[in-house]
Amino acid sequence: MKAQIAVLAGDGVGKEIVPEAVKLLRAAAEKFGHTLTFVPADVGGAAIDKIGVPLPDDTLALAKSSDAVLLGAVGGPKWEGLDYTIRPERALLGLREQLGLFANLRPAKLYPMLSEASTLKREVIEGIDLLVVRELTGGIYFGKPKGIEKTAEGERGVNTEVYTTHEIQRIAKVAFEAARKRRRKVMSVDKANVLESSELWRRVVIDVHRDYPDVELSHMYVDNCAMQLIRNPRQFDVLVTTNLFGDILSDEAAMLTGSIGMLPSASIGTKAGMYEPIHGSAPDIAGKNLANPIATIASAAMLLSYQLRLDKEAEAIERAIQKTLEQGYRTKDIQGPGTTLVGTVEMGDAILKNFLQG
Ligand code: IPM
Ligand code: MG
Repeated sequence: MKAQIAVLAGDGVGKEIVPEAVKLLRAAAEKFGHTLTFVPADVGGAAIDKIGVPLPDDTLALAKSSDAVLLGAVGGPKWEGLDYTIRPERALLGLREQLGLFANLRPAKLYPMLSEASTLKREVIEGIDLLVVRELTGGIYFGKPKGIEKTAEGERGVNTEVYTTHEIQRIAKVAFEAARKRRRKVMSVDKANVLESSELWRRVVIDVHRDYPDVELSHMYVDNCAMQLIRNPRQFDVLVTTNLFGDILSDEAAMLTGSIGMLPSASIGTKAGMYEPIHGSAPDIAGKNLANPIATIASAAMLLSYQLRLDKEAEAIERAIQKTLEQGYRTKDIQGPGTTLVGTVEMGDAILKNFLQG
C-alpha cells in the first residue's frame, strides 16, 4: 500500500499532538510494509500569520491531491478579532466543503479504566459505545442567506438552516450502513416539533430506512437527546443529526468518556477523508507538553481503517492505546489516583513502544 497523507497540524496543541500521531503512522507503515508519505502544510492561524489566509491555495491543492488529511486543530485568541471570513475556523469549513466531506463520524467509547475520569457516575457511563454521525457540509453552517446587515434600529444577524432531500438521504445512508456494523440501532435527532427543515429531515430519514429493515430507527428531539445523553447514554448506538446539533451533541458525548482529549473523528465524502481529534486548539495549555495526544492518535487509526482499509494496522494502534492506559499512563486531563502523569510526548512514546511490542 502506497499513500500520501497531508499533515495539517494547525494551531495551539495541534502542533504538539499531530507529530505524535505521525510517529504511530510511520511505525505502522514500517511494521506492516507500507509506504506512507507525509506532506506538511500550513492551515488556520499559522497560515494567516505566514500567508494572510486560513486556507492557502497550496494547502487546499495538497489536501485534494492526497489520499487523506490528518488535521490537528485551528484557532486561538490571537485571531479572534479577525473578520469571520478570514478566521482560522474558516479553514476547517473550507476543507470540509471543498473536499465534499458531508459525513462526520465521532465515536464515543468508554475505556473502562477511565470510568473515574468522567464527571458522571460510573454506573451511568459504564459500557457506553456510541457513534455520532454528524452532517457536515449543510445546515446552518453553510445555509444562505447569511451575514450581518445594518438596519434602521441597529444591526441584523442572519443564518439559515437548510437541508435538501439529497443531503438528508446521503447522511442517513451513512448512519444506517454504520449501524449494520454495530448494534443496528439508529436514533435520528431533530427539532421537528418546531423547524420545517427538521420536519423534512425526519420524513427523508424514514424514507431511507425502508432500505434498512434490519436496522431499528427511532427519533428524538435534540433537547431531549441532550438530556438523555447524560441520563442514560447506553441506550444509544448510532445517532444521526444535523451539522449544528451534531457539533453540540458530540462535545457532550465526548465528555461522557472522561475527556474531550480522547475522541477521534473521521470526515468522509467521496474522495480523501479528513481525520482529526474532535477537540480544539486548547490555547490555554498549548506549548506546555500537556495536551492529550490520544484523540489524534486514534484519529490516525481511523484514517488507516476508513481511508486505507488497513484494519489490522488500525486495531494494532487501538490496542497500543488501550495497553498504555492499562499501564497507568495519563495526561493531565485524565489523571486519577494511582496513575502516572505524563506529558504529550511521553504519552506518544509509551503508545509507540506498546505498538512496536504488540
Ligand atoms: C468541530 C468544531 C468546529 C465546528 C469549529 C472549530 C468550526 O467545533 O469540529 O466540532 O463547529 O464544526
Ligand atoms: Mg465542535
